[in-house]
Amino acid sequence: MSINFSEDAGSEIITTAASLPEDSSEGSLRPRSITEYIGQEKAKGNLEIFINAAKMRGEALDHVLLHGPPGLGKTTLAAVIANEMGVNMRITSGPAIEKPGDLVAMLTNLNEGDILFVDEIHRLNRAYEEILYPAMEDYAIDIILGKGPSANSLHLDLPQFTLIGATTRSGQLTAPLRDRFGVSLRLELYTVEELKRIVERSAGILNVEIDPQGAYEIASRSRGTPRIANRLLRRVRDYAQVKADGTITRKVADEALSRLEVDKLGLDALDRRMLRAIIELYNGGPVGLETLAATINEEAVTLEDMYEPYLLQMGFLTRTPRGRCVTHKAYDHLGIAYMGQQSMEL
Ligand code: ADE
Repeated sequence: MSINFSEDAGSEIITTAASLPEDSSEGSLRPRSITEYIGQEKAKGNLEIFINAAKMRGEALDHVLLHGPPGLGKTTLAAVIANEMGVNMRITSGPAIEKPGDLVAMLTNLNEGDILFVDEIHRLNRAYEEILYPAMEDYAIDIILGKGPSANSLHLDLPQFTLIGATTRSGQLTAPLRDRFGVSLRLELYTVEELKRIVERSAGILNVEIDPQGAYEIASRSRGTPRIANRLLRRVRDYAQVKADGTITRKVADEALSRLEVDKLGLDALDRRMLRAIIELYNGGPVGLETLAATINEEAVTLEDMYEPYLLQMGFLTRTPRGRCVTHKAYDHLGIAYMGQQSMEL
């Protein structure tokens, strides 16, 4: 297992898909192959076909855009693709690319078939996107050397490579960039059953005793997100070790998660603060996202990317053209009497 850090700013090469940068905390739990990867059946099914076809033709895989809420395994899936294709993957992110030279250096350092993974690709400087267009389409870049009348243009051929872009907000990608991805896959929130399998698999790797009800309890409180499931598993493991006999049962998981203020449906303190603010200050809504964010002192993008997807999926929140509204179900869950939504002057 080796990670080689390259010299260019903001990127690193992983020479095998076996190991990723955050390995100390999460990586050991990451699946390496498509068969180990639980859930996302639709995306996986399609990918398997595209990977096999590319391998049969001896070509690089077409460029792939992975989009969906954070924590669903976009980086993990990219590493799985690299592993299945038997190629190396170089990792960078939109905001880490500070100058065009960073991108050019990364592209020219790729080997035949390699994957360039650009996380948060919606944050890539728009001016640098134009370098990617011919790179993605023709495996070539044109560099202008010098300025004014003495400027020269240099045409560089690149190896056939695969760009994998990951984003939580595909709507923010420009159309020309989005159109150059031959494969676009949306990752969905995981079902409780899938998360239960992930928790059980992770517990096995971490050598923690867990019974099926304990795994179910963690899974059902993980907001459809493997990253959260694995984080909660580690915290429940701590609790089980100190306050019980080390085994994670439903009771142990419930006690530990209640202490962490993660409620029965996985809502945390901020989820509840958000719903309560809409109910108590805006009479259940509608309220604009920016206004709501200012009210509870959070960033609008944090609410939109990290909090809303689960609240929408659970049916606690609706989005309307006039803003966010909480539902009857949210009142019930929070134990607040529903008075009907009258418009109220504030
Ligand atoms: N760990 C994190 N995400 C996973 C997934 N989708 N399958 C298996 N283990 C995981």
